[in-house]
Amino acid sequence: MNITAIYPGTFDPITYGHLDIITRATKIFDSIIIAISNNLRKKPLFNLKERIELTRIATIHIKNIKKILGFDDLLVNIAKKEKTKILIRGVRTIFDFDYEIKLAEINKQIYPDLDSIFLISSKEVSFISSSFVKEIAKYKGNIKSYLPKEVHFALLKKLNIYQK
Ligand code: COA
Repeated sequence: MNITAIYPGTFDPITYGHLDIITRATKIFDSIIIAISNNLRKKPLFNLKERIELTRIATIHIKNIKKILGFDDLLVNIAKKEKTKILIRGVRTIFDFDYEIKLAEINKQIYPDLDSIFLISSKEVSFISSSFVKEIAKYKGNIKSYLPKEVHFALLKKLNIYQK
């Protein structure tokens, strides 16, 4: 059986935290769809097209990524459309759990065939969040170790920051 799982998020921008989950998920499932939510509620710094492109560049070395798509819809509708019944989410700390359980529950209410699978973030990256990275960058802190090189460069450019 060929199993495709969907990994959704805002990816504003993609970090080593997301990449940790993606890399591990591709070892468990036959293929992965990365679904990038427009999520205007979060007021993203990068527009959807930019987030898709940065994610594409950051994951170019990973073989079994089936596709990277952008969406402005309910996630369950995308999962149905893509014919996947497995949703992957990364959990960093106990604080993520409350939100993730609610999200998994609401998704299951709407699409009962959909199961959420949680991967615990590797401890080296479990403190990373896109917001922290953007905030550190804004005040010219060093964010090199949290992001792939191209994403790091794109973030500095977006914030009009010059860094050595
Ligand atoms: N390691 C480190 N950081 C991680 C991580 C990991 N493994 N996984 C997530 N993060 C960080 C992200 O950087 C992000 O940080 P930020 O909040 O500072 O930006 C945060 O954890 C959570 O982000 P993400 O995983 O991108 O999820 P999200 O909560 O932004 O997105 C959606 C959630 C897109 C899946 C959800 O909103 C959704 O499904 N939206 C579509 C509409 C819908 O169907 N809603 C549900 C029914 S109402």
